[in-house]
Amino acid sequence: MARASAGAGVERTLFSLILLVAAASGARLPARGGGAGIRAQQQTRGGASGTAVFALGSFWRSEASFGCLPGVIRTSVGYAGGSKAFPQYRNLADHAECVKVEYDPRLIQYQQLLDVFWASHDPREVFGQGPDVGNQYRSIIFTNGTMEARLAAVSKEKEQAKDRHSVITTQIQPMGTFYPAEPEHQKFELKRKPQLLQLIGSLPEEELLSSTLAARLNAYAAELCTTKTQKMIGSKIDDIAKKGWPILRDI
Ligand SMILES: *[C@@H]1O[C@H](CO)[C@@H](O)[C@H](O)[C@H]1NC(C)=O
Repeated sequence: MARASAGAGVERTLFSLILLVAAASGARLPARGGGAGIRAQQQTRGGASGTAVFALGSFWRSEASFGCLPGVIRTSVGYAGGSKAFPQYRNLADHAECVKVEYDPRLIQYQQLLDVFWASHDPREVFGQGPDVGNQYRSIIFTNGTMEARLAAVSKEKEQAKDRHSVITTQIQPMGTFYPAEPEHQKFELKRKPQLLQLIGSLPEEELLSSTLAARLNAYAAELCTTKTQKMIGSKIDDIAKKGWPILRDI
């Protein structure tokens, strides 16, 4: 990996940040040190991981809402729920902005993701969320199979039962095609904080997409981790900053 050229000290500092973020969020820790850390967290790939897709308003925030949860392996944003082939941000027609959440079912259940879904937006709002007005911001749970569809329906009914005066607008649909959004929309909150991005070595887009650490820091950047985790990550970052940014400036 290119990061190795930044030197052992940088690797160590980076790795301690990875450990911290992983520990704070309850993720399983990799057994060995060094650059293997990032990869080790992602070994669930292919195996037993689950995938959930939700629409809950602006996908910049949606992605950050799920990124810090223990058991979430990676997040990305895209378009789904419509009929247009190959939608784009400026021309997404009948699609909705979505977040795709890949998770380890041994660490987090679909039900818990549903709880976060409901808690992260106002499903009673019609035609958007807050300042984000439009069909692309509608609320949808995309399900894969009858079990997920049942869980989604039950959770929607529970949400509706909390207050009968207004209607939960959330749609429940079988998962169709998920079109990944353009790179500039991925890990948007993290990209708004260039120092954080530098801290993890300014990963190329491809790695930003697959990195567990990037998903967590994206949530941290939007202040959507738990208070405790926000504090822990924040103090670790301050600590690193005091020692000098672990960034290779020249060679
Ligand atoms: C849907 O579930 C099946 C069986 O659990 C799985 O093999 C498949 O990859 C899932 N599809 C998506 C899009 O997650």
